Amino acid sequence: MANILITGGAGFIGQNLVHTWRKTRPDDRLTVIDAMTYAANITSLEPLIESRQINLVKGSITDGALLRDLFDQHQFTRVAHLAAESHVDRSIEDPEAFLTTNVLGTFALLKASLDFWRANKLLEQSRFLHVSTDEVYGSLSAHEPAFCETTPYRPNSPYAASKAASDHLVRSFEVTYGLPALITNCSNNYGPYQHPEKLIPLMIIHALEGKALPIYGDGSNIRDWLHVSDHCEALIAVIERGHVGETYNVGGGNEQNNRNVVGLICETIDRAFAKDSKLKDRFPACPAADDRSCRSLITFVTDRPGHDHRYAINATKLANELGKRCSVDFAAGLEQTVRWYIENEAWWRAIISGSYRTWIEKNYGNRSAV
Ligand code: NAD
Ligand code: TYD
Repeated sequence: MANILITGGAGFIGQNLVHTWRKTRPDDRLTVIDAMTYAANITSLEPLIESRQINLVKGSITDGALLRDLFDQHQFTRVAHLAAESHVDRSIEDPEAFLTTNVLGTFALLKASLDFWRANKLLEQSRFLHVSTDEVYGSLSAHEPAFCETTPYRPNSPYAASKAASDHLVRSFEVTYGLPALITNCSNNYGPYQHPEKLIPLMIIHALEGKALPIYGDGSNIRDWLHVSDHCEALIAVIERGHVGETYNVGGGNEQNNRNVVGLICETIDRAFAKDSKLKDRFPACPAADDRSCRSLITFVTDRPGHDHRYAINATKLANELGKRCSVDFAAGLEQTVRWYIENEAWWRAIISGSYRTWIEKNYGNRSAV
């Protein structure tokens, strides 16, 4: 039995991690700290909170006094750090929150962990897992080898720069103070509970609602799609069995350009409507409701500034050292994800009303079709 602190546990990957952890390690005590920003959602956690299977604390990781109290109260010996501002487009509009949470918040968490583990002589048995991104490595051209753990850092967006800074801080705490830290750098995740502003949910929801599918630039940008269930299993493997001080890259082995991803989403929705006529009544604005392809909604819009061309992960170290290989096939994972968004309409409808609308107007209002 261990006492675990999961930061950002009300976000996309955090919620999935909480559920995976709860199912596979029922004896561990889980505490989630989350500032409940626009990206948080606790609907899926509510049954666990009510049945006291997890403890949810609303608060910021920048609050050192709160972190100290939580460590004293719950005696954590494992920290899985996922809390972050995570959307590249928002970091371009307004980078400040990214520096505050991703850099200063990570620093406050490192300090609280180190102080508590040192004072209680728990350094040896404790683990601090910092969840980071492949975006710290910058952008690859078409023929360059995939990112590995020794690829130099070349972050291009304010988001990537803030995550790179946090990785460096974590490393410095391990080397300088002996904090038992590990870092993972993963590729783009997809799956249930992802916020509707990210590529895959945005395209699914827009297609269902008959809205334009806005592909930035010419859609040739490539991402290496990782199913969130594979990612969560990898995170648990790293925190439990990884070597302290090491970095592990986690990737899906599924490189796809954005045109292909959006095309696959359209085909998956077209097929779902052809199989289930009830969907036509539920989503009458979707082109598939009139037996037209959702592809008719694809629109190419002004590119993101500094848009990284390609990310790809070499995950050999994770497989060789920890025996974890990502196994979800992209077409199957995407089909399951499309089904999840169709079945969980109430979940995303609650999010896309309200402040989400303001973001959509801000991000897409000035992007002309190209
Ligand atoms: P998310 O934006 O869905 O969730 C982040 C969560 O952190 C939210 O619940 C938010 O409320 C919380 N949070 C933000 N600021 C906070 C603060 N100051 N204190 C406490 N909580 C705060 O992000 P995600 O997609 O779940 O990503 C989780 C982690 O994985 C992040 O560190 C991100 O950089 C990393 N990552 C994500 C992806 C991806 O594809 N989603 C890829 C690579 C790395
Ligand atoms: P995103 O989900 O924002 O993740 P990241 O930028 O961290 O990789 O975007 C994934 C890719 O999809 C990226 O190349 C940008 C592109 N994209 C679009 O073409 N249109 C959109 O509306 C969004 C949100 C993203």
